[in-house]
Amino acid sequence: MKVMIIAGSNRKNASSTALCRYIAQMLKDQGTEVNLFDLYEKPLPFYCKDQETTDANVKALKQGLLEADGIVLATPEYHGSVSGVLKNALDFVGKDHFDGKVTLSVSSAGGAVGVSSLTHLQTMVRNVHGINCPEWISIGGTQRTFSPDDVPEDEKTRDRVQRTVGYFMTMVQTFRRVKV
Ligand SMILES: Cc1cc2nc3c(=O)[nH]c(=O)nc-3n(C[C@H](O)[C@H](O)[C@H](O)COP(=O)(O)O)c2cc1C
Repeated sequence: MKVMIIAGSNRKNASSTALCRYIAQMLKDQGTEVNLFDLYEKPLPFYCKDQETTDANVKALKQGLLEADGIVLATPEYHGSVSGVLKNALDFVGKDHFDGKVTLSVSSAGGAVGVSSLTHLQTMVRNVHGINCPEWISIGGTQRTFSPDDVPEDEKTRDRVQRTVGYFMTMVQTFRRVKV
């Protein structure tokens, strides 16, 4: 199985990206092929419907999603919604990339939970015909502390992430067998 993880923060030491790296390592340890696409390291141009882009990062984003069996979308909570860079990335793609694929939403918020960005993210996934994983991951407040090798310091957060990623992968395997 292949999973594409899109890290939707536009900063270097983002907690949502650290969480993506933790999830990526967990999946790799289980034998899953992972493509972690960090929008800070691979910035995209602004989407413009009038222009066909030849940008290499846009091409890699699209190809990675086409090849993925399951998708993880991670965002910082910005003004009760997703980051601009993640929304912009999703504007480049659509049904061809998400149809029939289970998608896990992940957020990092300054407050206790980032439910608002997760809800918005799931609305976008629905609109590109992805299958929303009913479980999601929100880290907030002090849960955003990680060790240098990207392991959450908080034990409950580690447990929650492990359980949710396990649930997500069961769904990915089930839906890829069904072939919608
Ligand atoms: C422009 C901006 C808007 C923000 N809006 C919210 C918000 O609405 N709710 C919240 O809980 N935190 C908000 N925050 C705090 C971020 O969600 C928090 O710092 C988060 O951990 C950032 O994720 P990152 O570490 O992955 O960049 C905001 C931060 C910025 C810079």
